[in-house]
Amino acid sequence: MGDLLLQIKNLKTYFYLDEGTVRAVDGIDLTVEKGETVGIVGESGCGKTVAAQSILQIMPEPGKIVAGEINYYPDNHKPPVNLARLNPKKDILRRIRGNEISFIFQEPMTAFSPVHTIGNQIMESFLIHNKEMGKRQARAETITILKRVGIPDPGQRVDAYPFQLSGGMRQRAMIAMALSCNPKLLIADEPTTSLDVTVQAQILALLKALQEKYGMSILIITHDLAIVAEMASKVAVMYMGKLVEKGNIMEIYDNPAHPYTKALLDSLPAREKDAEYLKVIKGSVPDPYTRLVGCEFAPRCEEAIEGICDKEKPSVTEVADGHLVWCFLYSDQKEGLGNVEK
Ligand SMILES: Nc1ncnc2c1ncn2[C@@H]1O[C@H](COP(=O)(O)OP(=O)(O)OP(=O)(O)O)[C@@H](O)[C@H]1O
Ligand SMILES: [Mg+2]
Repeated sequence: MGDLLLQIKNLKTYFYLDEGTVRAVDGIDLTVEKGETVGIVGESGCGKTVAAQSILQIMPEPGKIVAGEINYYPDNHKPPVNLARLNPKKDILRRIRGNEISFIFQEPMTAFSPVHTIGNQIMESFLIHNKEMGKRQARAETITILKRVGIPDPGQRVDAYPFQLSGGMRQRAMIAMALSCNPKLLIADEPTTSLDVTVQAQILALLKALQEKYGMSILIITHDLAIVAEMASKVAVMYMGKLVEKGNIMEIYDNPAHPYTKALLDSLPAREKDAEYLKVIKGSVPDPYTRLVGCEFAPRCEEAIEGICDKEKPSVTEVADGHLVWCFLYSDQKEGLGNVEK
């Protein structure tokens, strides 16, 4: 095992609303090692973004971390900092945000101010993070980083406003801004969803190349398991705020255990080349206030065992080395439960 950078333990982030409580993240465990890429996948609304935002406590109001730890190890010789415990308004978390851990958002327009040029915004970031740097050098560095992320004519584009760039160029500019502080961890939340496939492939290749150059860790969030397979070494599959499966990406891609993961994989075009229709996952994600006594996926699961999956929560089983699954199909827990015939 490599050196730990981030260790999330039993993280819970809830929204207490008048209509009920949304358990957006409901007890997840995840580790990211130095230099490693980890993926989080799952359908819309399963809690991927809120989980990632919790790391920096930038989830929208009234989201609150109600339990768990987010241990950050910037230096392996020192004890970790528990990010979940830091006051979001205090300096320590502010310094870590955008200085050591940066975030690429799904929609780049939200990251940039529309009234300043992208160059000025990236320069600003350089100046904030390097107190000794002068304006002239910051501008030169900005042009260099714009060039590095593949923006043609960076000497000119540096003076462009966000609306003057195409979606792909804006996404590159946002990656440039995220990299301007040379982060230890880059969180990329659906970094390519709004882009066409060619640009998507370019951006993913760019992230990989930059990771090799800078050695940062990446946490990539997407609904597309094929993207994770391309980028990450480990994957965590989420459903309704919980993990359903976790482990090495190749192992899970080849031997998915959880019926939800299997269904996600079956809905990928690349894997079903000969199929006339892509499979879709039966049913839809229930509304977020729902609380089930059994497994959250049971109502949509084709392999659900009546009397068990709808009655109890599955605990975790290790089906192969480091390959964890939260499902009764693989656990001894079902013995003695419900009315199964043996
Ligand atoms: N500001 C908010 N107020 C109340 N609930 C919220 C808020 N933001 C998110 N949620 C809820 O938290 C849950 C998780 O949302 P999240 O955005 O993390 O999903 P996601 O997996 O990132 O989905 P997508 O793939 O669509 O981006 C959802 O049920 C959502 O409705
Ligand atoms: Mg999201």
